[in-house]
Amino acid sequence: MALELNILVGTMTNTAQLVAQEIELTLGDDDTVVKVQYMDGLDATAIKPGALYLICTSTYGQGDVPDNAKSLYDSLVATRPDMSSVRYGVIALGDRTYLQTFCFGGKKFDALLSELGAQRIGEVCLHDASAGTLPEEVCLEWAQAWAEQARTELAAA
Ligand SMILES: Cc1cc2nc3c(=O)[nH]c(=O)nc-3n(C[C@H](O)[C@H](O)[C@H](O)COP(=O)(O)O)c2cc1C
Repeated sequence: MALELNILVGTMTNTAQLVAQEIELTLGDDDTVVKVQYMDGLDATAIKPGALYLICTSTYGQGDVPDNAKSLYDSLVATRPDMSSVRYGVIALGDRTYLQTFCFGGKKFDALLSELGAQRIGEVCLHDASAGTLPEEVCLEWAQAWAEQARTELAAA
């Protein structure tokens, strides 16, 4: 059965969208259906029971999620749905020059989803914009291994 992967994009200047598109282009095939969606205007009901998500988000302000991710994040905080049938991964984009809040946008989603009972697959992918590496390359490599792990875990479930 094809793996159905929903990528939710939180972004201000579209780096996260570029990363998501690269993953869609490379991983999407008959065995892997990839759907990319901006988080704009979403609420907690966008995350469906039993589905697989990749949260792909940057960080702004004092370690906040980007503006377009706020409605989804705040709705999850306010409604606290049971997410125990949801599996997810996180790509967190940030910059280590923001020492105290490095990649907090993605880390906040990870902490919240985990609190709500969702099961994370793999480790969080952290990208440092000051490292001189291309986010679409680093994150694509991570996502290829992550998708394999997701396939294995879902087949065993
Ligand atoms: C005003 C501003 C604030 C930022 N704050 C943080 C931060 O607190 N922590 C962090 O890790 N990165 C921070 N960043 C870095 C961005 O998250 C990073 O450049 C990311 O790749 C941008 O992705 P995007 O284009 O998808 O929004 C900040 C960038 C800007 C311009």
